[in-house]
Amino acid sequence: MMNYSRITGLGYYVPENVITNNDLTKWMKTSDEWIQERTGIRERRYFEYGKDTNYSMATAASRQALDRAGITANEVDVIIYATITPDYFFPGSAFLMQRELKMDGKPVIDIREQCSGFVYALSIADQFIKTGMYKTALVVGSEIQSSLLNKSTEGRNTAIIFGDGAGAAVVQATSDPSHSILSTHLHADGRFAEELYMKDPGSSRELPFSKDLIDEGGFNVYMNGNAVFKHAIVKFTEVIQEALNANGYQSSDVNLLVPHQANIRISDYVRQQMGLAEDQVINNIQRFGNTTAASIPIAMAEAWENGKLKEGDLICLAAFGSGFTWGSALIRW
Ligand code: UT7
Repeated sequence: MMNYSRITGLGYYVPENVITNNDLTKWMKTSDEWIQERTGIRERRYFEYGKDTNYSMATAASRQALDRAGITANEVDVIIYATITPDYFFPGSAFLMQRELKMDGKPVIDIREQCSGFVYALSIADQFIKTGMYKTALVVGSEIQSSLLNKSTEGRNTAIIFGDGAGAAVVQATSDPSHSILSTHLHADGRFAEELYMKDPGSSRELPFSKDLIDEGGFNVYMNGNAVFKHAIVKFTEVIQEALNANGYQSSDVNLLVPHQANIRISDYVRQQMGLAEDQVINNIQRFGNTTAASIPIAMAEAWENGKLKEGDLICLAAFGSGFTWGSALIRW
């Protein structure tokens, strides 16, 4: 008997602290109008120091996903945790969440594929389940990015985009291919590693924590926005087409696209290329900004809450981000 995997529960957590575009003008020269026009973002959430941590947000999202799947943490065989903003340099935040969920002894995998992190993590879960090694995986994306942004005018093209939050999915084995993950496609291109990156603290430095390095800005996120944008629109479209081709479908077969929330203009472009209607694409970047590895599971969890994930529908996930990395997943819900 073949094993397939399906998502049986989704959850998310975002910090209460809402930062509007106008709030950002306290730190940098920008405007609500500029940000909305270029990105679609109206507001984002920033973590509350002393209350939220990367793993506490992931744990909250996971508890909701487990609840909705109707299982307990004891029944999970493996945690796959995507983040580029872990609580510690090492070990990864997956360990902290595992401790919180009292899952001692269960394996955890920390992965860091940036904005494509959730798609990579989902693909790993799918492979583990298909081989029969595990029956239930908890797949999480969680990010605290607000503390790593340069919020002065110098860093404004990057700082306005990113926000904090976490999303989680319970992925379980099924023998029924008609409600399952059909395929995942993953890509990377390290030639562009420095187009969107955070350089420090790098281990290959003579002095990883000198004041000079802090002044140079290596401890803040750097992004070449134009280069990322140009590659994103091409790769999003390509990797979605790759998924459709692999399964013998075309764009018109897709019921719902859940893209990584990078920029509303990128999502709109992809939507138009695919010929989808506005209500066939999930966009919540207006309220949460770009939450990197958390963006797809947050968007999916909201879509589920709003009744937009319908049994039998063809759902397409797609992401592009730092690395560069890109990937897609096609799901028969
Ligand atoms: O998650 C995946 C990774 N990220 C992405 O997918 C993001 C992809 N890139 C983008 O979304 C866009 O490149 C941004 C929204 C980041 C920037 O938009 P842009 O249209 O590429 O702006 P730009 O950097 O080319 O800057 C255009 C102008 C510049 O002024 P001048 O030189 O034309 O006078 C900037 O200084 O806009 C200025 N600018 C701003 N003005 C007000 C840049 N950032 C801001 C700002 N507020 N926040």
